[in-house]
Amino acid sequence: MPMETTFLFIKPDAVQRGLAGNIIARIEAKGLTIVGTKMVQVSPELAKAHYAEHAERSFFPTLLAFVTSSPVIALAVRGVNAISVCRNLIGATNGQKAAPGTIRGDLGMSAGNNLIHGSDSPEAAAKELALWFKAGEIQPYDRTINNWVYDPSDL
Ligand code: RTP
Ligand code: MG
Repeated sequence: MPMETTFLFIKPDAVQRGLAGNIIARIEAKGLTIVGTKMVQVSPELAKAHYAEHAERSFFPTLLAFVTSSPVIALAVRGVNAISVCRNLIGATNGQKAAPGTIRGDLGMSAGNNLIHGSDSPEAAAKELALWFKAGEIQPYDRTINNWVYDPSDL
C-alpha cells in the first residue's frame, strides 16, 4: 500500500472560528502523521496558483477573496493512502450535504466557507506541496505508533 504525503490547509473560516484544534485532532486521531505545518497569510499569487484549475469558474473571485481574507494553516499529512483518506475525512464540498462524521459534515454549513482543503490526486498533492512548502519544511518521519495504527498487510 502506498505511503503518501498529501497537502491540506485549514481555511480562514476555520481559523477564525477557533476550529483548527478540533480539525487537527481529527487528523491525528485517525492515525495520520502531520509532517509539516505553518500559518500562512495567502497572497493573491499563491491563491491563483493553488486554485488555477478553477480560474474560469464563476466563484473564482469569491474564492480568491476568501482564502486571502485571513491566515490559513498549511499541513503536510502522511499515511497509507493519505490522499483519499483525507478527502473522505473532509467530506463533500458543501457542508450542508457532507456526511455526518466528516469535518465539513460536522462543522460547516457552506460550499464556499468549507473549513479545509485537501489534495484530490497524487499529481495535485505533489504540485501543492511544492507550491506551499520549501525544501526542509517537511519532515517525512514515521511514528513508532504506526505499528498499532496499521497491521502488516496495510504497509
Ligand atoms: P478544495 O479544493 O478546497 O479541497 O474543495 P473541493 O475539492 O471539495 O471543491 P472544489 O470543487 O475543488 O472547489 C474549490 C473550492 O472553491 C469553493 N467553491 N465555492 N460557491 C460555490 O459554489 C463554490 N464551489 C466551490 C470552495 O471553497 C471549494 O472548496
Ligand atoms: Mg478541490
